[in-house]
Amino acid sequence: MHRARLNGIRKVMSERGLNAFLVTNMSNVFYLSGFTGSTAAVVVTSEAAYILVDPRYSIQARMECGDGIEARDYTSVSTVEAAGQLINELKSDVVGYESENLTVASLRRLRRTTGAQVKLRSTVGKVEMLRSVKDAHEIALIKHACGIVDSTFDIIVREIKPGMTESEIALLIDSTMRRLGAAHEGFSTIAAAGINSACPHHSPVDAALSDGQFLKMDFGAEYQRYNSDITRTIFIGKPTDKHREVYQVVLNAQMKAIEAIAPGKTGREIDAVAREYIASCGYGENFSHSLGHALGIDVHDGPGFSKSSNIVLEPGMVITVEPGIYIEGWGGVRIEDDVLVTDTGHETLTTADKRLIRK
Ligand code: GLY
Ligand code: MN
Ligand code: MN
Repeated sequence: MHRARLNGIRKVMSERGLNAFLVTNMSNVFYLSGFTGSTAAVVVTSEAAYILVDPRYSIQARMECGDGIEARDYTSVSTVEAAGQLINELKSDVVGYESENLTVASLRRLRRTTGAQVKLRSTVGKVEMLRSVKDAHEIALIKHACGIVDSTFDIIVREIKPGMTESEIALLIDSTMRRLGAAHEGFSTIAAAGINSACPHHSPVDAALSDGQFLKMDFGAEYQRYNSDITRTIFIGKPTDKHREVYQVVLNAQMKAIEAIAPGKTGREIDAVAREYIASCGYGENFSHSLGHALGIDVHDGPGFSKSSNIVLEPGMVITVEPGIYIEGWGGVRIEDDVLVTDTGHETLTTADKRLIRK
């Protein structure tokens, strides 16, 4: 598995005329090597691949990385200096680095270590491009992570009642996900009630739920390094016609966009399905973010559905679909599911109830 992924990077290297590739983004390091620690770098050449780790991770790297990659320890230098020394030893003279990850200070350190004879070439999104199409093993892990959030919603929705605070609800969600096997939350859980639900990424506070409020909950489970990401919005008390209308517009937009997902479509086409529908209902100004993002090792795993997305959908991509309507001083609704692109269309991986639930 890792050997095939390393060969994917070697293909990019030969296209770009690189004889080594330095990987410093830790999600990319994990993808190429299987290493789960927090600090390392991978150096790939046409014949070999190395993972550089400090002594905290020597044993772990040897246990986790086997397939086509050699673990080497370094001490007394920084990770990029160790990488620079290895590049010198390998006599690689045209080296790609990940410019979206390597800091300016690290790049300077790398330059100082390798010297002027080594040409350092900026690259963007090369490993991420390989990561965008998931294999069967990755899809199985994402499905498992989706099962955890589906079951979590089923459980917590029964326990929510007026008087609970946003913070209590977030804690209930997090502890339930952990009990169901999540390694941890994929991101800080959002629980937003009433006017707070108009903020797309509100942080829970000690505000108590009361009648006449939307409660928007956005949470994700990480399972064996892969993520799920779901949003459900429920209602406390009896919704007005306007609450019902806004909810239904978001739900219709989401279902129309999911229905349109198929190989060959572009990211912007799918975004437009939801965006144009919401605008036709008079809420265009209130849908302020992109429709969705790729999902995998990272919660935000790469480009997905947006006004400017050029990605062309391929079987194996997993992308969220999460339209929202946010009205300042009133409230907001978002509904989010995780969708796999299949050979013939799509499969929705999160299946928790989307009818407007009242508590
Ligand atoms: N919770 C972050 C997102 O839905 O993208
Ligand atoms: Mn989310
Ligand atoms: Mn999301």
